[in-house]
Amino acid sequence: MKPGASLMKHFLQIKDLRAEEYAYLFERTRIIKTRFKNYERYQPLVDRTLAMIFEKASTRTRVSFEAGMYQMGGSVVHLTTGDTHLGRAEPIEDTARVISRMVDLVMIRTFEQAKIEQFAAHSRVPVINGLTNEYHPCQILADIYTFIEHRGSIEGKVVAWVGDGNNMANTWLQAAEVLGFKVHLSTPSGYEVDPAAAGVRDAGCYRVFNHPLQACEGAHLVTTDVWTSMGYEAENEERRKAFVDWCVDDEMMAVAQPDALFMHCLPAHRGEEVTAEVLDGPQSVVWDEAENRMHVQKALMEYLLLGRIG
Ligand code: CP
Ligand code: NVA
Repeated sequence: MKPGASLMKHFLQIKDLRAEEYAYLFERTRIIKTRFKNYERYQPLVDRTLAMIFEKASTRTRVSFEAGMYQMGGSVVHLTTGDTHLGRAEPIEDTARVISRMVDLVMIRTFEQAKIEQFAAHSRVPVINGLTNEYHPCQILADIYTFIEHRGSIEGKVVAWVGDGNNMANTWLQAAEVLGFKVHLSTPSGYEVDPAAAGVRDAGCYRVFNHPLQACEGAHLVTTDVWTSMGYEAENEERRKAFVDWCVDDEMMAVAQPDALFMHCLPAHRGEEVTAEVLDGPQSVVWDEAENRMHVQKALMEYLLLGRIG
C-alpha cells in the first residue's frame, strides 16, 4: 500500500470492516491455516515490517503477530513503553509520524481507545488494535473464526457473556451488530456494558440478564474473561467480591445448548471466572481459539497490506 493511499484501512474496532469483508477474511484464514498445517511456505509479505507497540503485557498477541509475520516472510520490531520515548512523553502524533515512515504496518496494545485513534490519524500505514481498554477486535476475530470452524456460521446464534462488561464484552456486542447474532449479557451490578460506549446502536443484538444462568440458557457459545482487566488492578479486591457468582461452571454449561462451546480469550484464572472442569472440559475450545489468533491475524495483515488476493 503506498503512503497516503486512499484505500488504506485501519483495524481499530470491529465496525471498521463490513460483514462481507469478514466473510472474505475468514475464508482467507481457512486457506492460510491449511497451508500452514501442510508445511507449505506462503510468504506474500517479504520485505514488509510490522511494528508492535505494547503498553500492556502480552503472551498470545505478541507471539501470534510475531510468528505470523515471520511465517509470511516479513519482519517485526517490538517496542514497549519502557524502552521507547512513548513512556517519556513524546507526543503520540510524533511517534506515529516517525514509526509509520519506517514500517508497513503497526499493531498497538494500549490503554484508551482514543490513543490508538490518535496514532492512526497520524499514521501513513495501517494500524491494528491489539487491545485497548475499550476493544479487543483481533481476539473476537479469532473467536468467531473458531466458532465457524467448529459449528459453522455464527449468524442467528446466541453468545452468552458472563462477567465483566469490559473490552471483550464491548467487542462481542459490536460483532453481533455487524455479523447478525445475539449476545446474552450477564454482569454484576456496577460492571454492566454500556452499549453506547461500546459503539452499538441496534438494541436487538443484545439482551441483558440479571442472573448468569439465565444468560446461558439455550446459548450456542458461553464465554467469559478475567474479573480484573489490565489497567484495573487497583480494583482487584472489590471485584473479587462482586464477581463471585459470575464463575462459568457445569451448571451454566448444562442449560446452554447441548453442543454449546466454551471460550475464554486467556489468560484464565481457574476457580475465579471459570471452573477448571469447564476450562479443561470437552466443550472448551480455548486452545484452538488461542492458536487461531495467529491464523486470523495473518489473513488480516495480508488484507490490510495487499488487499484482496485473486
Ligand atoms: N488473549 C490475549 O490477548 O492474550 P495476551 O494478553 O497474552 O496477548
Ligand atoms: N480483558 C482482558 C483481556 C486480556 C487478553 C484485559 O484487558 O486485560
